Amino acid sequence: MPEKKPHLNLIVIGHVDHGKSTLMGRFLYEVGAVDPRIIQQYEEEAKKLGRETWKYAWVLDKLKEERERGLTIDLGFYKFETKKYFFTLIDAPGHRDFVKNMITGASQADAAVLVVSAKEGEFEAGISPAGQTREHVFLAKTMGVDQLMVCINKMDTVNYSKERYEEVKKTLSKLLRMVGYNVKEIAFIPTSAWYGDNVTKKSERTPWYDGPTMLEAFDNFKEPPRPIDKPLRIPIQDVYTIKGVGTVPVGRVETGVLRVGDKVIFNPPKAVGEVKSIETHHTPIQEAVPGDNIGFNVKGVSRDQLRRGDVAGHVDNPPTVAEEFTGRIFVIFHPTAIAAGYTPVLHVHTATTPVTFAELLQKIDPRSGSVAEENPQFIKQGDAAVVKFKPRKLVVIEKYSEIPQLGRFAIRDSGRTIAAGVVLDVKKAEGY
Ligand code: GTP
Ligand code: MG
Repeated sequence: MPEKKPHLNLIVIGHVDHGKSTLMGRFLYEVGAVDPRIIQQYEEEAKKLGRETWKYAWVLDKLKEERERGLTIDLGFYKFETKKYFFTLIDAPGHRDFVKNMITGASQADAAVLVVSAKEGEFEAGISPAGQTREHVFLAKTMGVDQLMVCINKMDTVNYSKERYEEVKKTLSKLLRMVGYNVKEIAFIPTSAWYGDNVTKKSERTPWYDGPTMLEAFDNFKEPPRPIDKPLRIPIQDVYTIKGVGTVPVGRVETGVLRVGDKVIFNPPKAVGEVKSIETHHTPIQEAVPGDNIGFNVKGVSRDQLRRGDVAGHVDNPPTVAEEFTGRIFVIFHPTAIAAGYTPVLHVHTATTPVTFAELLQKIDPRSGSVAEENPQFIKQGDAAVVKFKPRKLVVIEKYSEIPQLGRFAIRDSGRTIAAGVVLDVKKAEGY
């Protein structure tokens, strides 16, 4: 059997209206991942609204409301393949209110496409202190997305000017370096989503550019390490009881390998059982590896012992249950200031729980990563900080350095994302 192509999750990020959906829609069309008849149908519908150029964006912006408003709200998923990889594309919305979805997307992504508009004024808005080019780049890095390609889009609006391209590239490089990206490994591709420049074909309008097209740049991504030799971790999404089978938890294997016959433990409830069978997309399998979405029948565990947010692991290396943890966060949004005692909601893998900011340990200079202040009284929007957190319920959480998939989190309050971060250290709860 031929070797299966490796799979990468891809997120598209960038400031509102810089052309993410249009560019990726065009890309999907050019690689043949979209039926031309669908584009034709979108073209006719868009014409009726007097917005013919929206046809490509609609490939990604499927929801009706998004169509009428011309912006992206929820995450869109799409699949395509290149010579080397299978990709699942997650199109993140650029609009300010939707950063939460962007975080969910980024926590599942292996690589990102950053789309920035070269148009006069638009690029500048994106990298301004309140701009989402800046915010998304920061979040992507925080959430562990280490590979990036940059599309400098709407080159048609600046006459394919090499000078403007160089100017945008230089300013962006500074930002990317500050956040911690290795700029030398990043492709900066001059594109136009409208005219298809450097999407899958080299453009004659940018003779001064000798780098890869988008299609080529996708194959320059490196395969992320597949964590099969790490301890088994499966965050549970749902639990079913199936007649004649029994208890069937459902989730995605994040790390490690699950085999039929394994003894597993679900934490926090400490429920122990034996794996009788594993299924993925209605096909029985003998073993499941990272990335597999599975249902697995467990003998010895009843459905009412389990809930969404629990994590399965092997009994000899059970998932870590936290009493306290230290996290490095970036404050994305807060109307005033955060002090110790603040108790919003923690989102980590499939779990949510109220969490208290127990101690503000350090304020960090986001530019250099060095400590700006010890034991600050407050932290504010735009600050990076090291904080000691106390979850109000038992929850499984792991050190980012050991199991990154279970070591990134978001903090939310009243429907807004307050902060995103990674786990530096965990204090185990008593009895675990
Ligand atoms: P959000 O999802 O709302 O953040 O926006 P987006 O980044 O997905 O942008 P979208 O693709 O919806 O495009 C925004 C506007 O820019 C639309 O009017 C597009 O037609 C236009 N646009 C996109 N790409 C190009 C381009 O290459 N050249 C020009 N001139 N306009 C473009
Ligand atoms: Mg969009």
